[in-house]
Amino acid sequence: MEITVKSARRYVDEIPAPLAIAGYWGGELTEEARKLDQKSGGQLSRVLDELKYKGDFGETLLLPVGEQFVLLFGLGRKRGVSLETVRKAGARLVHEVTRLGFKEAVAETFLAEKFGKKQASYALAEGALLGAYEFKKYKSDPEVKKLRLWLARSSGPAVDRAEIVAEAVNYARDLINEPPNVLTPAELGERAKELGREAGLEVEVWDERQIQQAGMGAFYGVAQGSLNPPRFIQMVYRPQGKPSRVVALVGKGMTFDTGGYSLKPNESMLTMKCDMAGAAAVLGTMRAVARLQPGVEVRAYVAAAENMISGGAFRVSDVLKSLSGKTVEVLNTDAEGRLTLADAITHADREGAEAIVELSTLTGACVIALGDKVAGMFSTDARLGREVQEAAERAGEKVWPMPLEEEYREMIASTTADLKNVHGRSRYGGAIVAGLFLAEFTEKPLVHLDIAGPAYTERPHALGPAGGVGFGVRTLVELLSPNPLGEE
Ligand code: BES
Ligand code: ZN
Ligand code: ZN
Repeated sequence: MEITVKSARRYVDEIPAPLAIAGYWGGELTEEARKLDQKSGGQLSRVLDELKYKGDFGETLLLPVGEQFVLLFGLGRKRGVSLETVRKAGARLVHEVTRLGFKEAVAETFLAEKFGKKQASYALAEGALLGAYEFKKYKSDPEVKKLRLWLARSSGPAVDRAEIVAEAVNYARDLINEPPNVLTPAELGERAKELGREAGLEVEVWDERQIQQAGMGAFYGVAQGSLNPPRFIQMVYRPQGKPSRVVALVGKGMTFDTGGYSLKPNESMLTMKCDMAGAAAVLGTMRAVARLQPGVEVRAYVAAAENMISGGAFRVSDVLKSLSGKTVEVLNTDAEGRLTLADAITHADREGAEAIVELSTLTGACVIALGDKVAGMFSTDARLGREVQEAAERAGEKVWPMPLEEEYREMIASTTADLKNVHGRSRYGGAIVAGLFLAEFTEKPLVHLDIAGPAYTERPHALGPAGGVGFGVRTLVELLSPNPLGEE
């Protein structure tokens, strides 16, 4: 739907929108809801009582009060409530309101008294903007609903920031949801250039010849089997004045992963257009960073390719020479991401990154370990790891630390080359082994986020529809440009 979220200074009952929304818990109205209840002569609380409303999260009661309608929104149990409750309420509300046919509404900024006006305004606006997302580009006759949502007694700057971040997440979702015949590596390069022009970022995109000439043999090996040639995308955000630090973001950019000759069964291939979700998160983050203008220099790198089969494709037993000089024996062409990322990480390191944060839909093993809501975090530097995890926590994204266990390093030793891209016949510890492989390509502090689980969902979730989730954008933005917490 088309949504605009606006900040208002006044209380819910002072804003003349056709629909006023306020919250309640089991047996208890919020302060804003109490005022609306008084306006209704106590009718709201009476009906809640008589109909035995429990106050479950998302439960609603709609009643006319004077010229307006009032929607009471159940906030669930008071115990264990968090900013995530507010975010989810925002996402749920926009659907409820448009389903009822309203085009304009005013909502209470839920839990502002508990979490502060800024935090609550931010979470509610972010939830509404993420929840309103749809991908209807390929529908011939899409129904587009419109909504203007006022947030009563909210913080204007917090709502502005939420708009910037949510827009960046939704941009990443759009990239992931594009079908792979449209979003080829070349097209991803074009989108990056367009983003650079719009946002005022430096962009350079290398074609297959430049990739080969640069010596990115691991990346090129993966790409060589496709009719759609690879691209190496580089973007830079430079702050005004001397940057406080230089951070590189690296995103896995497989626009489609068939597995190559180590072919995936159809079932596993179904969602593989999402194999560029790391790249999407990185580009989305650059978009937000360009608008938020933090004091860090941010460099983004994406090795974009397709993992396909043809007479020219790489095979099992091939030895590839990576940009670092290390040779890699390919024992499974479906472990292609780490090959492309190896060269991107080496390049980021050589270009002067002080810290590297890399995101990839890297292993099914990580999904087995943590499920599809939590990303695995691997770091070669405890401080950077902590920084990323804390940013994720503040941003409301789930990231969990995993070990880069040295004892497993022997699993990627090859008899023929310097490394092999998968461990022998053991099925154990696949996400860790992949992380160890990446860590071979830089001595700089590196955080690897394996987002294979949370990047994509086949069912609607609390903050959006089925499809690309845009996972990672919120964490990266929070890392590079922390949300100011002071009260207004
Ligand atoms: N893109 C996949 C990983 C993936 C799995 C992403 C599920 C999203 C959801 C990756 O390239 C891959 O195929 N990895 C292999 C590695 C194995 C061959 C060592 C895997 O996880 O099976
Ligand atoms: Zn693969
Ligand atoms: Zn892949």
